[in-house]
Amino acid sequence: MASLDLAFVRASFPAVSESRFVYADNAGGSQCLGSVVSRISDYLLHTNVQLGADYSVSVASTSRVNDGIEAARELLNAASVDEVAFGSSSTMLAENLARALDGDILDDEEIIITGEHEANGGPWKKIAARRNLTLNYWHARPGFYNANNPYSVSLQIDDVLPLISPKTRIVTFTACSNILGTIVPVKEAVRAIRKRAAELGVRKLEVCVDCVAYAPHRRIDVQDWDVDYCFFSVYKVYGPHIAVLYARAASLQDSVSSLSHHFLDVKTKSYKLQPGGPGYELVYACTGVTAYLKSLSVTHTIEATFELIKEHEQGLIARLLMFLRSDWCTRRGVRIVGDHSIGPARVPTISFVVIGDRAIRSQDIVKAFDQQGDIGIRYGHFYAYTLIDHLEPKIDVSDAVVRISLVHYNTVEDVERIISVLSAQLMA
Ligand SMILES: Cc1ncc(COP(=O)(O)O)c(C=O)c1O
Repeated sequence: MASLDLAFVRASFPAVSESRFVYADNAGGSQCLGSVVSRISDYLLHTNVQLGADYSVSVASTSRVNDGIEAARELLNAASVDEVAFGSSSTMLAENLARALDGDILDDEEIIITGEHEANGGPWKKIAARRNLTLNYWHARPGFYNANNPYSVSLQIDDVLPLISPKTRIVTFTACSNILGTIVPVKEAVRAIRKRAAELGVRKLEVCVDCVAYAPHRRIDVQDWDVDYCFFSVYKVYGPHIAVLYARAASLQDSVSSLSHHFLDVKTKSYKLQPGGPGYELVYACTGVTAYLKSLSVTHTIEATFELIKEHEQGLIARLLMFLRSDWCTRRGVRIVGDHSIGPARVPTISFVVIGDRAIRSQDIVKAFDQQGDIGIRYGHFYAYTLIDHLEPKIDVSDAVVRISLVHYNTVEDVERIISVLSAQLMA
């Protein structure tokens, strides 16, 4: 079976290939492809003019930006480029989306959110508070994978269904948690949510999926999933610091109010969700991400590449989880926050705490890594504040968890180096 060409992968990222530093905070932001940086500089140096004019350089620049929009469409597998909007971050895009949907939500309607990253919670909380709407939480279920570990929490589809009422208007959730690393089967979840909504005669239910922590590891397919809105940050998928939002054509037409200037003819276009232009060089540079992903598989398809990425990442997950869930670590007080099982239902974003008689604060664990100086990991709630705050027994939200987040350019040797620093601390 084909496998990832790791030498090629690593050579594609100057930061990774030119130093021994272990980048293990990738869920915060991945390293950037050299080819993406070249595109950014080439755009700015040679085609940095306004779009849409008829002079030759503007024609070239418009064509480059259109290629970038097409790249984002491909990454989402949207039906049309008209369904793709850009913004500086996913947080900003979700805020824009909520603002654009506000007028289409009735006064007695309800919203369901998860306790995951605040980007997909905060905007809906604000609408609910301002409009006095009912907000329901789809919380992660405790002790799901391991009855002896209350922190082994998981978002289960069965838990969202009872929250749906005839008044539910919006359901938002994450395709993958940026702390737990578990993948929610989006297609299955959406099908179950829509089925329940149809049984209850819901007027209009739309689903918004946060794919930020999912996109670096798995193929997004908004059409297959049957979602209405979906977003992710390209800067976590090896690209430039920009984010993309999918809005289904029918939703753009029927649900979304335009955030753009009143005289612009935006009707069913994603421009409704893009008040003002994004950085054109960044949009163009998205073509570097699709070109890279396609180059990794023999069939030159994004689907095949994500299979290779999944395969490679399973090796990283297995090694790290085998250590963290070993009897020795368990006795020492290590508790995985999330799924402890090795398998394709999770990505290599792995969080843990050290509790008990000889508890160690998450920040102290990370400090030891920082002092050593050649491995980058992080601690905290990573803006999934509500998820952490909801854990029982309580943990200090400001200290929260240690998170090791790996991607396909990481190696088993990286994992061994992480384990060696961690073992020394746990033994001390
Ligand atoms: C799951 C998840 N959602 C949303 C965001 C917010 O993304 P951005 O930084 O582009 O606003 C993040 C960022 O870490 C995230 O991990």
